[in-house]
Amino acid sequence: MRLQLICCVALAILRLCSAHEAALQPAVHVKLGPGSFFQWLASILLPAPVTPETTSATIATTASHVQGTTTEPSSSIPTERECSSCRCGLINTERKIVGGQETRRHQYPWMAVLLLFGHFHCAGSLINDLYVLTAGHCVEGLPPELITVRLLEHNRSDSDALVLQRRAVRVKVHELYNPRSLENDIALIRLDQPVSLEAPMRPVCLPVYSSSFEGELGKVTGWGALREGGFAAQVLQEVDVLILSQSECRSSSYTPAMITDNMLCAGYLGVGSKDACSGDSGGPLHVLLDEQPGQYQLAGIVSWGAGCARPDSPGVYTRVNQYLRWIEANTPSACACMEYPEEDY
Ligand SMILES: *[C@@H]1O[C@H](CO)[C@@H](O)[C@H](O)[C@H]1NC(C)=O
Repeated sequence: MRLQLICCVALAILRLCSAHEAALQPAVHVKLGPGSFFQWLASILLPAPVTPETTSATIATTASHVQGTTTEPSSSIPTERECSSCRCGLINTERKIVGGQETRRHQYPWMAVLLLFGHFHCAGSLINDLYVLTAGHCVEGLPPELITVRLLEHNRSDSDALVLQRRAVRVKVHELYNPRSLENDIALIRLDQPVSLEAPMRPVCLPVYSSSFEGELGKVTGWGALREGGFAAQVLQEVDVLILSQSECRSSSYTPAMITDNMLCAGYLGVGSKDACSGDSGGPLHVLLDEQPGQYQLAGIVSWGAGCARPDSPGVYTRVNQYLRWIEANTPSACACMEYPEEDY
């Protein structure tokens, strides 16, 4: 089969090239894992996908609230489903607060690993029982057949029995995603089958619409490199980062034009030391939903940055609450969880 041949060629070339990859990365880069090489290769060798998902649909004039009119692929999952009640965003264990440490197993059960050709590529977040939210640059131009999603992964070298694997059946990159500016760096992956939202599985909460999150502490989780130029981590890591104001971010090493209203910056200006890094792309930047610990909303998606943890180059994230209508319009048939128990309304 053509695909298998490409895989073999890709594997052989990857072995030759992976040692040089760190050196080839430009100064301002997306935070992709080693699979970015496969993406590049796939973009050259595979025919451009002509599925309704990847052709741009009707594009409205406002950047962030576009409602694409994509035709649904025929599917056995009904549009109207019986959904049982569940709560989003609750972590599975209490944690001690230290920056940049290993997480406990299944602490953030919505964390998804995206595999490309079976190799670690990016992260994502389960936002309901059928869709994973990730960065546009992780999946742009990729046919869904090449993507596998793994949930409840912890140590990538030592998968336990709880790990759930799903195939991607649909990839929806934002219609106005721009690979040069990384504006609208957001994408949805539809899974082949719904995930049962029973303990320990749970989706993360979507963010509160109006919040800027400025001055709040965010938490990034991922299997990305532990330092600039390093290898991807085996075990899921987490790090606390301070969310900056737009003006603070625009006076960092980035020019004001680079930081749009659809982006969010987090880090420690003048200090550095804590950041997302290569391989964290597509993964979540969480913020507590209320003041109380243990329940999280998805404030950002790891998007880009200059290097990792450099003092004047904060991490840049897709500002998820600019895309709530887009997410709503592009997640048909899903069962979502509530932020609060029904009796709290
Ligand atoms: C992950 O699993 C591998 C294989 O079992 C093991 O060698 C390694 O020590 C584990 N990593 C951590 C950090 O526990």
